[in-house]
Amino acid sequence: MAPPLTAVPERLLTALRQAQRVAVLTGAGISAESGVPAFRDAQTGLRSKYDAQELATPEAFLARPRLVWDWYLFRRGLVERAAPNRGHESLARFPEIFADFTLITQNVDGLHQRAGQRDVIELHGNIFDTLCFDERRLVSDVRDDGKAPPRCDCGSLLRPGVVWFGESLPGPALSRAEAAARGCQVFFSIGTSSLVHPAAGLPLIAKRSGALLVEINPTTTPLTTSADHVLSGPAGQVLPQLLQHLEAFRG
Ligand code: OAD
Repeated sequence: MAPPLTAVPERLLTALRQAQRVAVLTGAGISAESGVPAFRDAQTGLRSKYDAQELATPEAFLARPRLVWDWYLFRRGLVERAAPNRGHESLARFPEIFADFTLITQNVDGLHQRAGQRDVIELHGNIFDTLCFDERRLVSDVRDDGKAPPRCDCGSLLRPGVVWFGESLPGPALSRAEAAARGCQVFFSIGTSSLVHPAAGLPLIAKRSGALLVEINPTTTPLTTSADHVLSGPAGQVLPQLLQHLEAFRG
């Protein structure tokens, strides 16, 4: 029995009917229904002993490279065993509905791409990428004996291709995301606690630029009071229902 259609305010549906330019920012919440733990939810496994903030820093990596590397191998395994959910799959259909659609994510799990989303702006990198620590270039040939921390041909340590606390975001990705926030008519913030900047600033850039701001989250966040519309619920339920509305009027 499908849950009742999420009540989508008529004012929002009208705006979406007329919108050409739509941007979306997603966070870990959209992958929650795929079984990938979010950051500020109760943590499981290796992560239960350590806080992400403790491990996801250059200092933590240099102090304990093998431990941090193994933590990312553990998370890669989690994501490999996960599958995109109906929230990811619904968003992958949005480019067919809106002429100018931009998907920005804070997630590093690649599940949007696995759901068929093309052109994903990954603000925090991708967990399956491996970089030379010193040269920050992508490395494809990783030799790991499971004991010593893997090293680049240049002798430097290898690291996961994700943004750590205290590190800057990839410039081109952030510039594209900011431009999309400034230029869109409707901005969705989905499955993020809206706590970590600069990503958390994007919805407010959009709102200040005149966009309608929509939040999809089962709980409130610091963004909630700024949102024009809040669709309270899990993205894996709300997005397929929103898509149903959108496809109905787009024919
Ligand atoms: P958080 O774990 O901080 O927040 C997850 C959000 O998703 C919360 O607001 C939940 O209420 C919401 N949520 C949970 N289940 C949901 C569902 N089924 N549908 C929709 N929303 C749901 O994760 P992020 O906001 O993504 O940074 O965290 C932002 C950044 O903090 C991450 O990118 C990471 C972390 O430090 C870096 O790695 C640089």
